Amino acid sequence: MNNITIAIDGFSSTGKSTVAKQIAKELGYVFVDSGAMYRAITLFAIQNDFISQEAFDVASLVSELHTIELVFKFNQDFGFAEMYLNGKNVEKEIRTIEVSSFVSQVSTISEVRQQLVKQQQEMGEDKGVVMDGRDIGTVVFPEAELKIFMVASAETKAQRRYKELVGRGDKITYEQVLENVKERDFIDSHREDSPLIKAEDAIEIDSSHLNLEEVFEVLMQLVRMTLEDNE
Ligand code: DC
Repeated sequence: MNNITIAIDGFSSTGKSTVAKQIAKELGYVFVDSGAMYRAITLFAIQNDFISQEAFDVASLVSELHTIELVFKFNQDFGFAEMYLNGKNVEKEIRTIEVSSFVSQVSTISEVRQQLVKQQQEMGEDKGVVMDGRDIGTVVFPEAELKIFMVASAETKAQRRYKELVGRGDKITYEQVLENVKERDFIDSHREDSPLIKAEDAIEIDSSHLNLEEVFEVLMQLVRMTLEDNE
C-alpha cells in the first residue's frame, strides 16, 4: 500500500494532536506535532528575554534563530516523540500557559515560519507522515493526499485545555484558559503570513459534540478511503 501524507489543521484544543497521534500509531506513520516546534522557539525567546508582557524584541530572536536546534526524540515509555530544544527535553515546559500566551505572537514572524516549514517539509519527504498544525495543508504539504480541518466551539476547546492543564497540576482558572484559546485562535487566523485557513480541499470536522474515539473513527474512515484511492 502506498504511503500518504495526512495534514490535520485547525483551531487550538480541538483534539488535533491527540487524534493525529492515534492515527499515526494505527498506520505505523511518523507523527509530527508542528505546534511543539513553534512552542519550543517561544520558550527559547522567553529564556533569552526576547519576549515578555512588556516587549517583543523580534530582531534579536530572528538573529538567533540559526542557533536553535529542534529535534523530536521518540520516548519508548510513553509511545510518542518529545521535543528537544538544543539538546534539552522541553516537552513539559513548552505546554505551560506562559508559553501558550506568547506562542501566537512568535508564530507571526515570517523568518520563524520559514525555518520551521523547511524542517517540517524535510520530515515529511518520504510520506507516511501525520502532521498537525495550522498551515500544514495550505503551506507545508499543499499536495497532501488527505487534509482535515478541525473546528469546535470556544467553550468546548477551553474546557478540554482546562482539564488538561489542571490534570497536570497547573494553577489556572477556566476563564484564563478560555481567554487564551480565544486570543490565540484570533491571532492565528488573522496573521499576515500563512494564517489559519481551511484549504479548499480539506474536510472539516466539528469535534464539539464528538468524543475522541468518535473523532478517531471518522478520521480513520477518511484515511481508509484515501488509501484505497491511492493504491
Ligand atoms: O498546536 P498548538 O496549539 O500546540 O500550537 C501552538 C501555536 O503554534 C498556535 O497557537 C499557532 C502556532 N502554530 C502555527 O502557527 N503553525 C503551525 N503549523 C502550528 C502551530
